Order: sequence, then C-alpha cells, then structure tokens
Amino acid sequence: MKFFVDTAEIDAIAELNDLGMVDGVTTNPSLIMKSGRDILEVTKEICDLVDGPVSAEVVATEAEAMIAEGRKLAEIAENITVKVPLTWDGLKTCKTLSDEGRMVNVTLCFSANQALIAAKAGATFISPFIGRLDDINLDGCDLIEDIRTIYDNFGFETQVLAASIRTVNHVTECARIGADVITAPPEVIKKLAAHPLTDKGLEAFMADWAKTGQTIL
Ligand code: G3P
Repeated sequence: MKFFVDTAEIDAIAELNDLGMVDGVTTNPSLIMKSGRDILEVTKEICDLVDGPVSAEVVATEAEAMIAEGRKLAEIAENITVKVPLTWDGLKTCKTLSDEGRMVNVTLCFSANQALIAAKAGATFISPFIGRLDDINLDGCDLIEDIRTIYDNFGFETQVLAASIRTVNHVTECARIGADVITAPPEVIKKLAAHPLTDKGLEAFMADWAKTGQTIL
C-alpha cells in the first residue's frame, strides 16, 4: 500500500520523505489555505522534493475553466496529478485530461456509484473520504471495501486512494481491505509507529541498563 501525505507543509513532507515514507502528496484548497503559501510556488516545491504523484486541485466549477486550470497545474511538473471534485463537470474534466495522458485524482467521493462513474471517466485515483462519512455516523471503511470489490469485479485500473484518514485504525482497515493508497496527515502517519507497550518495554530496559553501569560507546 502506498502512503501519500495529505498536507502542503514542506517541512513535514521532507521529514517523512527522508524516511522513505512518502509515495506521493495530496493537497486541496483548505490545505493550501492552512499553509499560507501561493499554490503554484508551494506545489512546485513539493514536486521538486517528492518523486511520486502530487495532487493539486482545481477551483473552478465549470468544465471549461476546470480543464484550463488543470492544464496550468499540470505544467508545474511531470508528477502533478490534477485533482477534480466528483461533479458532472469534474468528470468531464477528468475524461478530457486523462485522454491527454495526465494523471487525474477525482476527489470528494462518498458513494460506490460515484467511484464507478469516476473509473469510467478514466480517473487515475478515486478519493473516497472516510472520516467525513464516519462524521455522519456511516462507516467510511465500508465504502472502501465496496469500491475495492467493484473495481476488482470489472478490472478497473483506477487506484483506490483512501482519504480523510483521521486515525491509525483507518490505516489498518484500509490496508486490510486492500486500498491501493492512503493519504493521511503527517501526524497520523507518525502515530503508526507508536504503541504504549513499546514505551513501557523500553522504559524497563533503560532502567535495568542503568543498573549495569555499562556503556556501549
Ligand atoms: O484528503 C482529504 C482530506 O484532506 C480531508 O480530510 O479530515 O478534512 O475530512 P478531512
């Protein structure tokens, strides 16, 4: 399973990238706003840092303008993935840009039918939002499972990119179900290393080591 980082914070991406944890990056208008950076500048910096796909989202809502924005974003670097919302105009944009050979990430997906139609429109990635479904008392991971089954039934090559990941359990579930990619905030990725029994065990080892009076170096 690939790990994408869901942020436009360069330092956080660099830290995880140095550890080989970054297979790609996803951004959206809210993340650009949080970074306080210019979209074209920060996206270029991210593309220079990371080898894998970097999603940059269009903000127009009508196909013609979305396509124009998508083409402009795609000029930033070869690893740009144009991100479009799952609307009818977004699907038109997806079809046009994917026919031009560009990677497209169709975002704001909340149903299996939406995922099906995005695959038909040639999406490279589909981004179902797990956490936002959980927010309204649905099970976001059930959606990932449904999409996995449907794509496998028909051999769609669109990659399932589980998004709106809020917890480490979301990551475990996505890995179990077979999502192709998860995109998560840096703090969730870092939490994957944590376990209270690791901390407790290490504390006991350190206490016993101190009693030996030895050093290694
Ligand atoms: O990748 C989508 C993500 O940025 C949305 O996350 O937590 O705002 O639902 P969230």
